Amino acid sequence: MAHYPRLSVTPDLEKLVKDYVLPSSLGFGKHVAPLMATCLYTNGEWQQPKIEAYGPMPFVPAAKIFQYGQQVFEGMKAYRQKNGKTVMFRPLENFKRFNLSAARLAMPEIPEELFMGCVESVVHAMKNIIPTGEGESLYLRPFMVATEPGLSISVSSDYLFFVLASPSGSYFSADRVSVMIERVNARAAHGGTGSAKTSGNYAASLTASIMAKKLGYHQTIWLDACEHKYIEEFSGMNFFAVMNNELFTPALGTTILHGITRSSLISLAKHQGIKVNEAKIDIDELISSVRSGDCNEVFACGTAAIVTPVAELGESDGTTRYPIKTPPKEKSVAARLRQQLLAIQTGAAEDHFGWVHPIN
Ligand code: COI
Repeated sequence: MAHYPRLSVTPDLEKLVKDYVLPSSLGFGKHVAPLMATCLYTNGEWQQPKIEAYGPMPFVPAAKIFQYGQQVFEGMKAYRQKNGKTVMFRPLENFKRFNLSAARLAMPEIPEELFMGCVESVVHAMKNIIPTGEGESLYLRPFMVATEPGLSISVSSDYLFFVLASPSGSYFSADRVSVMIERVNARAAHGGTGSAKTSGNYAASLTASIMAKKLGYHQTIWLDACEHKYIEEFSGMNFFAVMNNELFTPALGTTILHGITRSSLISLAKHQGIKVNEAKIDIDELISSVRSGDCNEVFACGTAAIVTPVAELGESDGTTRYPIKTPPKEKSVAARLRQQLLAIQTGAAEDHFGWVHPIN
């Protein structure tokens, strides 16, 4: 396994971590840990990264991130296993996706050593504040923003790369979520930025989230931008359904985030003989299958959401809802995949896939 440069942490910074008290109620991404990694890109080169205290940063209001949204990010997790080891889950996949997102947003590539060195250093510095309850972890948020000032639409010359950390629990407060079908607006179009992890995709989902919340839904499901017919993804997670004991998930393309949890679940399912169909899923056919009982599970998956079952789908008129007749937990594919994934991540099960990445 590659060794990445570890950034130094001064005694003052170590003290910030030592004095940090894990909040009794975590939630997701609410509490930012006391240290972060930062690295400047200027004159066509990445400069020396460093660990510093989390806090306000000086940005000029004309910086291109504020004007034109040139930004990319990742979501990753570190776990404190029962045997005391600190590990991450498939971080090199996040690294690769980060650079694919950066390329789409005309941002500089970040070298593996720099990305992984910053991420590992942040995790190592805060290994003692990783929460260990069910579904808890240290959530990592690497991101890059354009910092050159200027109001012309042009590629920034300067960037800042950050790695923040957040001791986090479950993304959703509910065990099963209600999902509103967004039939009018679209999240992403072919050739757009849908498969890049960039803030604008999430900003585009927020008006739907207001309506969803008003109607008592937890999440929105997006359809394709051409025909408003085929399922794409949830606002921050990938989509799966179980129909007649087979798994279905939308095929990847330029409009869907290439989820690392998604691909891990596909591998886990195939490994135990479950047929996985990566295909176009027509929303109205899915609804018919939900109504007939042929589709008895729908779930969301992602780094933050892990595997979250959907209790019902519904229309944005607020009146028509389609409850999913899910099997008991011991017969649920979603519950089994969630348990298997978490067991690998937390060290409760052997990692036959080589996904777990130790932080020594
Ligand atoms: C993640 O699962 O890490 C995500 O990025 C989803 C969301 C919190 C933006």
